Amino acid sequence: MGSYNIAVLKGDGIGPDVVAEAMNVLNCIGEKYGHSFHFNEKLAGGCAYDVYGEPLPDETLEACRNSDAILLGAVGGPKWDHLPANLRPEAGALLKLRSSLGLYANLRPAIIHKALSAASPIKTEIIGDSLDILVVRELTGGIYFGKRGTRTGKYGMEAYDEEAYSEYEVKRIAVQAFEAAMKRSKRVTSIDKANVLESSKLWRRVVTEVAKDYPEVELDHMYVDNAAMQLVRNPKHFDVIVTSNIFGDIISDEASQITGSIGMLPSASLADGAFGMYEPIHGSAPDIAGRDMANPIATILSAAMMLKFSFGLTEESQAIEDAVTKVLDAGYRTPDIFSADTKEVGTKEMGRLICEAI
Ligand code: IPM
Ligand code: MG
Repeated sequence: MGSYNIAVLKGDGIGPDVVAEAMNVLNCIGEKYGHSFHFNEKLAGGCAYDVYGEPLPDETLEACRNSDAILLGAVGGPKWDHLPANLRPEAGALLKLRSSLGLYANLRPAIIHKALSAASPIKTEIIGDSLDILVVRELTGGIYFGKRGTRTGKYGMEAYDEEAYSEYEVKRIAVQAFEAAMKRSKRVTSIDKANVLESSKLWRRVVTEVAKDYPEVELDHMYVDNAAMQLVRNPKHFDVIVTSNIFGDIISDEASQITGSIGMLPSASLADGAFGMYEPIHGSAPDIAGRDMANPIATILSAAMMLKFSFGLTEESQAIEDAVTKVLDAGYRTPDIFSADTKEVGTKEMGRLICEAI
């Protein structure tokens, strides 16, 4: 019977709508299995900027550091787009949380639930009735955090961003990918641009070295342009994908879109040890905020990932996933995944149904 401290950053837009349901679901799990989850709610993102003049106040970061895990909704919105980069919710809150807390391993599963296979934009002959890809994205290095600036070049003023990776950074993310693969179908595809980039040559060499410690895992390497193409041509080729920060940003959006239901996809950003931040892949969707329309499933499944990765509560995590499947199989859908012959429900009702199924 555990007791867990969770820092809760509801954020902007639909963040508060979907996080509220994930908290309800965690409370249901707590009741059923005898755990207590303590929620410490703090502001992050545009809502924090409005109150404190900064998207990630020290108080919020401290609360995150003192927690066992973080549950995040979504940050950002057109209201704050005019701000300079360091004050914008995306860079000022999200990127700062990732780097300050050492959350270097970003796991983004792209899964098609059987009940929703028709939602994929890919033909059924290609996709079949299921898809299960895990994108393991490096999250605290590369071009996102490299040297950047402006200078005078051959043609006058120019701007630059540097892509640099150390052996250490590549090794630790590769280890995460191979460990994940050992629990799945033992296949890893490493994505790089080693035909052009020096950083990718190092990436490929280090991933190949790490692979020697995992003789059972089949490793292949793919250039990022080809990978982008294969993801829509033959998505079943992929099981675990490991790639850099920038390539992972792009590839994970593509992978999520081929599932046809971005409102369903969770993510985990992990540090060494058990600490992690859990958030839906979708954004803040300000147009539907507060209207009981958003799909809470991505955030609820993110809470399930938290139980598994940060708290080691595998059975409880599975109970949430099973409840989601049960509710979808029973035909309940939020507007984003609604289709003929299904029953439309709002954010709160979807949360309630999932609790009930637990
Ligand atoms: C993501 C987002 C962020 C990123 C943005 C909001 C900074 O696109 O989490 O994929 O580029 O990492
Ligand atoms: Mg992205």
